[in-house]
Amino acid sequence: MTDNEARYLREVQYRFPDRLEARAVLHRRYGRGDWFAWLAREIAFVPGSVVADVGCGAGALWRDAPHDVPDDLTLRLVDSSPGMVAAADATVRADGRWRDVAVIVGDATALPFADGSIDTALAIHMLYHLADPAAGLAELARVTRPGGTVAVVLNRAGTMAELSGLVEQALGQTSSRPAPLSSEEGLALMQAHFGTVEVRRYDDTLRVADPVDLLGYLTSLPEADAPGAATKLAEAVEAAFRRSEVFTIAKISELLIARR
Ligand SMILES: C[S@@+](CC[C@H](N)C(=O)[O-])C[C@H]1O[C@@H](n2cnc3c(N)ncnc32)[C@H](O)[C@@H]1O
Repeated sequence: MTDNEARYLREVQYRFPDRLEARAVLHRRYGRGDWFAWLAREIAFVPGSVVADVGCGAGALWRDAPHDVPDDLTLRLVDSSPGMVAAADATVRADGRWRDVAVIVGDATALPFADGSIDTALAIHMLYHLADPAAGLAELARVTRPGGTVAVVLNRAGTMAELSGLVEQALGQTSSRPAPLSSEEGLALMQAHFGTVEVRRYDDTLRVADPVDLLGYLTSLPEADAPGAATKLAEAVEAAFRRSEVFTIAKISELLIARR
């Protein structure tokens, strides 16, 4: 990833939570709707432990964590976007549940934590933004104590292909961006780094019934920033809903869990 790409992520794509939220709406409204609750339960946080959520976004994991997740965790949330950090800060302080929490602007490749100071380090849908994901994993491992947990979430290759198909149909092969790091690739990197890695799979099918929500998702993508793209995407969405009342999307995310 170039400096320009990092700046684009920080200053455009993730400047505020609006684009991420436009995508989250599709999952919440039309899918299982239990993503963060599922994730929090699968990670099985240990009471009183120190958790780093790297690339925390707007802090949705901590908004949706079910009540059986211990509320005496020490939470350290990090994101490279000041706008996301402000949103996450408001989220985690909203209901007063998390008592020891700090939300920090920082980079996943140079975390502001001492070696071995974290019990559980998370990178939820974040590692694919790094130019060198293996270096990102090494940094997660550095801050995690021996015996602690590193948990990474990525999507399976080809997940939500129906959406990329619609973008391609509307805009052609515009994207010079490489495909995002898949969970299969992430698993291989983690195995090289940690040895044994557990895989927990989350399957979902989104049956989108409102074209406005589908368009909201598509116009949140980097491809939509090109001149004229938003109009073409709107036309593609209209055409898709003329063909069928529901636009169906298959999604597979994987939680990859390693012990340091
Ligand atoms: C797809 S969002 C996921 C947010 C959150 N984990 C979630 O699941 O809702 C990716 C997040 O990673 C952040 N990010 C991207 N590159 C980063 C980096 N190098 N260091 C820290 N955060 C980064 C973005 O600002 C964004 O908030």
